[in-house]
Amino acid sequence: MSPCRVCSHPIREFFDFERQPLSSAFPRPGELDQEYFFRLAVGMCESCTLVQLIDAVPPERAHHQGYPYHSAASSVMCKHFEQTARRFLETELTGADPFVVEIGANDGVMLRTCGDAGVRHLAVEPSGAAGVRAHRAFFDVDSATRIRDTDGTADVVYAANTICGVTDLRPVFEGLGLLLAPDGVFVFEDPYLGEIIDRTSFDQIYDEHVFFFTVRAVGALATRYGFELVDIERLPVHGGQIRYTIARPGRRAPSPAVADALRTEQARGLAELATLERFAARVQRIRDDLVALLHELRAGGARIVGYGATAKSSTMANYCGIGPDLIPFVCDTTPAKQGRLTPGSHIPVRPVEAFADPYPDFALLFAWNHAEEIMAKERAFREAGGQWILYVPQVHIV
Ligand code: TYD
Ligand code: ZN
Repeated sequence: MSPCRVCSHPIREFFDFERQPLSSAFPRPGELDQEYFFRLAVGMCESCTLVQLIDAVPPERAHHQGYPYHSAASSVMCKHFEQTARRFLETELTGADPFVVEIGANDGVMLRTCGDAGVRHLAVEPSGAAGVRAHRAFFDVDSATRIRDTDGTADVVYAANTICGVTDLRPVFEGLGLLLAPDGVFVFEDPYLGEIIDRTSFDQIYDEHVFFFTVRAVGALATRYGFELVDIERLPVHGGQIRYTIARPGRRAPSPAVADALRTEQARGLAELATLERFAARVQRIRDDLVALLHELRAGGARIVGYGATAKSSTMANYCGIGPDLIPFVCDTTPAKQGRLTPGSHIPVRPVEAFADPYPDFALLFAWNHAEEIMAKERAFREAGGQWILYVPQVHIV
């Protein structure tokens, strides 16, 4: 058994998705022999209770394949990042000459909003970020030192959907130790294990999500690396996340929300293997139900297409064995994915215009995390008699 990436104690495995591809590596039709696969399995640390992947993709494989995140594809996410910036501007960035850093830039929406308000800002992102000042590197001791030497300490360091994918968190926290101002905060948000279990959203588990945080595990993690968890906030985005606020020890009084969440997690057994094993049984049930439904609909002559070629749906399609025989194509707004195939499952990705040309009988919503936004935008599909198939929290048709 591999040891915990944070505390080195053994990890107890509770689910094995077996052979899975890189969730963002959309091959061209002629490139199928170059696909990389690894064993996607997940377990919980016996000691610090951090849920994590058993095997991780070696960084030299992962970084080549990634494709940049486009929050602009979702107006909900753009609004979310603008609101996040406004909150920081009102609460944390109120001093004489504040400085905000984002690790991984998420399209730069948050930093751009701060920049427009006249606040010094910097993205720390190896591939840069459009329209914002960027330090092209990973966030670690070296980059944190350089940034501090040029810009001084940071009042806020923010990261969204990034920290859960960083295999080795020690250099990140060491970097924070150097870069954060004495009263500065590190704020990060990622999918919440409690939500993944509530929604049985097993497809949040893929190569780029290495950690599935709980308040308890993040509290332990912060302490281990010399910080303190001082606040948490539930977020509705991406199928349910938590935003964690971490400060230097003793600098801020922890909010009651932290203790409340710890009590709730304890009461619902979030750190117990039995809870995760019950989750695993529900995941198998979803696979069986979804595969049966798709075969039944196809046998009845229905046309079914996919909507939104998300990274998470890679786990769903590969785990369920869903390919182009059941779903002839999946439509997606991302130009870089169009004309390519979904990883491992090889479903062609087509522009969203293909969706209405003509409408299918059913659409399997791969991008269920944007369900409200997409269903509102595609109201005409329902009006034309089309129906959505969702697979979380269980298989259902709407
Ligand atoms: P994302 O939310 O980033 O999920 P993941 O992290 O699992 O990849 O991906 C959303 C995908 O869905 C992205 O490829 C863009 C696509 N999309 C659409 O095609 N139409 C839409 O209206 C929205 C909101 C997203
Ligand atoms: Zn551990």
